[in-house]
Amino acid sequence: MQKLEVFGAKKLKGQINISGSKNASLPILAATLLSKNQITLKNLPNVKDIDTMMSLLDSLGSKIKKVKDKIIINNSRQKKTFASYNLVKTMRAGILVLGPLLAKFGNAKVSLPGGCAIGTRPINIHLDALSKLGVKYKIIQGYVHAYAPKGLIGNKIRFSKISVGATENLIIAASFAKGSTYLNNIAIESEIIDLINFLKNMGCNIKWTGKRSLKIKGVSKVKEITYPVMFDRIEAGTYLIAAAVTEGNLKIKNIVPKIIQTEINILKKIGAKINIKKSEVHIIGNKKIKSINIKTAPYPGFPTDLQAQMMVLLCRANKQSVIKEDIFENRFMHVAELNRMGAQILIKGNKAIVQGNINFAPAELMATDLRASVSLVLAALSAKGKSVINRIYHLDRGYENIEKKLKKVGAKIRRVN
Ligand code: EPZ
Repeated sequence: MQKLEVFGAKKLKGQINISGSKNASLPILAATLLSKNQITLKNLPNVKDIDTMMSLLDSLGSKIKKVKDKIIINNSRQKKTFASYNLVKTMRAGILVLGPLLAKFGNAKVSLPGGCAIGTRPINIHLDALSKLGVKYKIIQGYVHAYAPKGLIGNKIRFSKISVGATENLIIAASFAKGSTYLNNIAIESEIIDLINFLKNMGCNIKWTGKRSLKIKGVSKVKEITYPVMFDRIEAGTYLIAAAVTEGNLKIKNIVPKIIQTEINILKKIGAKINIKKSEVHIIGNKKIKSINIKTAPYPGFPTDLQAQMMVLLCRANKQSVIKEDIFENRFMHVAELNRMGAQILIKGNKAIVQGNINFAPAELMATDLRASVSLVLAALSAKGKSVINRIYHLDRGYENIEKKLKKVGAKIRRVN
């Protein structure tokens, strides 16, 4: 198993180009199943979850070719509707093929995602909403056996809880349903906006009827298109926080700053100097970091995917901070590891009480999930000495060339087998 050796403390200096968004690419890749011919995607990040999703599409009969920086997907012979456990278990976003398969074929057998380190990851919201489109389903031995006897039929749907994945599954399914579907209380993360743009470029009929509501008029086929996916706002946020943690000076490029305005405002509030340009954010970390209380929330609130990274920064603040995790039930797996580096973080229910004025000490560490593992890298960058991070396959799921990007801005970091 590979591990990362990180020699801190290092002030990061230079510029980092942000890759394409993992969480925009996954639903868009799933949505390519709607097509009966060829779709070309650009700017997909070279990370494990994207490979897994492409293996899942391949197992369904899509023909996928990598040509330079493009992925060309040909579905002229895509006919299968079975998504197996061995692919879905490692990447819960595999459930996103359920909507498009039902839309295109009227039936699907998809493995239940199963739980992961951050929570049980149920799909009840997906299934309840799909039932409203006329889908019948049974759960048999860990698989969803779903079918739409009369095809998908448009309906009015109000999500009981804001869910990114359920919103994505339903937008894709409703795009091919007969008649119109009204979705209310949807998630509005930037990755969903990107999915909607992708579907509209393919010829789907999707209109906003409110801040969190859409009207989707079903179509029966889509055009061949080429589409560049958006930048990864969580990767961008991670490197902004890395600059703040290491009192560094970084230019984060190839981004749309207004999409991460919440994160930028918080970093300014705790003392970082930030200068915004058209497609770049220049951040200079400050020796003095002010404490702040944070709670995670659906977009445009503070993203749960940056909670662990922000926790590392707040350990270095001048006073105690409180972080409330309101999205996932178990997303504090990084706390025990950070405490082993000298942090003093107390968990009370879904709150983490984070003591400030901590100087991290290097340690041998264990990654548990994607964002927890990157928070350990940030802490190791600010700890004087050598840290070792084990199980970095978690990192490789969502951060493209992380050690290359960090080395380029002065980090002493290397991957060892
Ligand atoms: C997406 O997960 C992201 N994954 C997550 O990023 C992200 O943390 C999450 O949205 C929240 O922003 C991808 O986009 C591939 P949800 P998703 O459905 O869709 C509960 C990362 O690190 N829920 O919005 O699974 C659920 O358990 C990953 O890149 C139900 O109860 O998130 C959670 O508590 C981690 N029933 C909450 O809702 C359901 O049917 C939000 O989940 C669905 C969700």
